[in-house]
Parts: sequence; C-alpha cells; structure tokens
Amino acid sequence: MRLLDKVAIITGGGRGIGEATAKKFAKEGAKVVIADINNEDVKKTVNEIHENGGVAAGINVDVTNTESVNKMIDFTLKNYGRLDIIVNNAGITMDSTLLKMAEEQWDAVIDVNLKGVYICGQAAAKVMAEQGSGVILNASSVVGLYGNFGQTNYAATKWGVIGMTKTWAKELGKKGVRSNAVAPGFIATPMVKKMPEKVIDIMKGKSPLGILGEPEDIANAYAFLASDEAKFITGSVLEITGGVVL
Ligand code: NAI
Repeated sequence: MRLLDKVAIITGGGRGIGEATAKKFAKEGAKVVIADINNEDVKKTVNEIHENGGVAAGINVDVTNTESVNKMIDFTLKNYGRLDIIVNNAGITMDSTLLKMAEEQWDAVIDVNLKGVYICGQAAAKVMAEQGSGVILNASSVVGLYGNFGQTNYAATKWGVIGMTKTWAKELGKKGVRSNAVAPGFIATPMVKKMPEKVIDIMKGKSPLGILGEPEDIANAYAFLASDEAKFITGSVLEITGGVVL
C-alpha cells in the first residue's frame, strides 16, 4: 500500500498503459480518477477497480481543452478533497514519413501529446503548489529520445515532454512538487498492436530481451515514482525499454 489514501488522476486511464496504471495505483491504496476521452473504457476500468475493492471514479476529459481539464480537476477535488498525483498519460500517434506528413497530422499529435500535457500539468500544479506537495508524471517515449521512422510529430512531442518535465522540476521543487517522465520502449497496448505484424517483430528484435513490454511494466514504474520511495527523484526520465536502442 505505497499510495495509501493518495488521490491520483490518470489521463488516458481507460485502456492500455493508463488502465494498468490506474489498477496498480488502486491496488497500492490510491483513490483514482480515470480521465479519458472514451467513456466506454472509463466505465469499464472504473467497474473493474470497484470489483477488486479499489476506490475509483471516472470522468470524460479531452486533455486538449482547458475547460474540460478544469472540470476534471474540480471533479477530483469535489470527490476526494485533494490532488496528490497526476499521470499525464493520454497520447496518440498519427504516423507518416516527413515527406508525406500532412499539417493536420502534425497538429493533432502536438495538441494531445504536448499541449495536453501542458494544460493538465498546469492545472494540477496550481492545486499541488497550493497544497505544498504533489507528483507530476509525464509519458515520454523511447521515440522521443532516439527518433523513429515515420514519427516526426510523435518524436517531437515526446522530446518536448522531457523539456517540460525538467522545467517543472526546477519551478515547482521548492513548492514540494516533484516532476518526472517515463520513457517506455514498445509496450503491447492497442496503440502498438494496431501496427503491422512485421513492424512489431522488428520492435521485438531491437530489444536484447526479444520481447515487447507489458502495460504493467510501466504501471509499476509510475507507482514507484509516485510513491514516497522516490522522494529524492525529480527532473528524471526513467527509461523502461527492455534495452531497446532505436
Ligand atoms: P493507448 O492508445 O492504448 O491509450 C491511450 C489512451 O489515451 C486512450 O484510452 C485514449 O482514449 C486516451 N486519449 C487519447 N486522446 C485523448 C484526449 N484528447 N483526451 C483524453 N484522453 C485521450 O496508448 P498506450 O499505448 O497505452 O500509451 C499511453 C501513453 O504512453 C501515450 O502517451 C503513449 O504515447 C505512451 N507510450 C506508449 C508506448 C507503447 O509502446 N504503447 C511507448 C512509449 C510511450
């Protein structure tokens, strides 16, 4: 119970890594807000946490919309009275090589993966700074660190997330707020499973372990970074990649 009675928002918590993180946090004793644009997935994740005796509530959010994000924060404070942790996990891909990428593809990915993290991070930071404590965890990626074929937009956002993470660590440290990023390798979630089998095999081959990661591998890292065991860790990027170097 490393997160006993901590209040945590997980954006994109309806499925994939976010879902696994929400379930892990609930198991560790946290009160979890599942915030996702997909209502069906929100309901499913909340129900499954309840069935296992955890505490969770769900809300529809679009992380690119400030009004929607403010509602998510208000909902959390109304339900649970405080905000200890936010995992800025919501993210999308819209792949194309540089020569073929349309401006709409660039804008859409920047909006969710970069602006969304800024909007949610800022809204959460205001509450946490006032409280004098809090943890912000952001989803970067191995692709942000090394680049990846067909992912100009996505790589830019995931590198940008690292810049925000380190800036927030500097700005918010004295206010008792830690800020860290996680850079997963290739994890078997709906986002990755929609890729062609051939590409998935290539990804597996890039890891010395020869496998994809599981969502729980990332959830475990988020739980550690959110907990007091990580009280001296801020401004860091934790790579959880199975040793992948692109
Ligand atoms: P996923 O596609 O399975 O889940 C993403 C979730 O975000 C979905 O539930 C979706 O509804 C939600 N979402 C999308 N747009 C949203 C918006 N505007 N507002 C609110 N929610 C929104 O993705 P996955 O694989 O679980 O990835 C989670 C995070 O981890 C993403 O930021 C992704 O970039 C990052 N990541 C994933 C890796 C992987 O191999 N799966 C590797 C490295 C990073």
